[in-house]
Amino acid sequence: MDVVVFENSAAVAAEGAKRIRALLGEKPDAVLGLATGRTPLSMYRQLAADCEQGRVSFAEVTTFNLDEYVGLSAGDRQSYHHYMNRELFDHIDIDQSNTNLPMCEPGGNPLSVGPRYEAAIRAAGGIDLQVLGIGQNGHIGFNEPTSSLNSRTRVKTLTRETLERNGQYFDDADGQPLVAVTMGIATILDATAVLLLATGQDKAAAIQQLIEGPVSAMWPATALQLHERVTVLVDDAAASQLEKRDYYDWVGQQRQRLQTQFDGE
Ligand code: PGA
Repeated sequence: MDVVVFENSAAVAAEGAKRIRALLGEKPDAVLGLATGRTPLSMYRQLAADCEQGRVSFAEVTTFNLDEYVGLSAGDRQSYHHYMNRELFDHIDIDQSNTNLPMCEPGGNPLSVGPRYEAAIRAAGGIDLQVLGIGQNGHIGFNEPTSSLNSRTRVKTLTRETLERNGQYFDDADGQPLVAVTMGIATILDATAVLLLATGQDKAAAIQQLIEGPVSAMWPATALQLHERVTVLVDDAAASQLEKRDYYDWVGQQRQRLQTQFDGE
């Protein structure tokens, strides 16, 4: 796991955007796995600006979002579909027919969404880079604590703490869905590479577990320790409980030194 600590959240967002630009530079038709929530917002703003200035293009990109509430229509402004349009897709040159979320519109059968979504990801050739945030409880996507580490896209009942935290985005608490469809942990682990962003003190315990804790369904993000290519971008506050913080900085310096020395070989 590559752990890179930045001074502040703006630097985390800038680095995240840089890594996505680099991937699309190499592979313009990449398949991106995307996340919602507060954390990636600044990175999406940066990418929208980059696209406007011609520094990156999403014209050939396909996207798969991690999760969506059950029973919200795409037009519902509290749906993640709406979030993605508002925060990113409406501002970049992506073909919106190549954007995917595990939608279950009102009246639809949520149990049928998972297998269809998995098939769509496979048909697109798999995810090249999965962007993730992390919950305070260590969830990735909506894989709440005790999720099977081998789970696939499916319906998940949200924990009370997640409902409370996300409740702020709903005007009417009764309108907040209690269940969601989320990519599973095994689905996330299938991505070729993973880029996890976390900022703020309230993520420090989850980040410590993710990087230094034992692999456990109680902290679902710890499953990422089993993946070969995970990069964690954090600010100082989110890194504040890491026991081996000095080591991660040291690793970064050595990597930089090797890149400078052998660049182009
Ligand atoms: P946040 O959510 O970015 O809003 O903190 C992250 C998550 O719950 O995965």
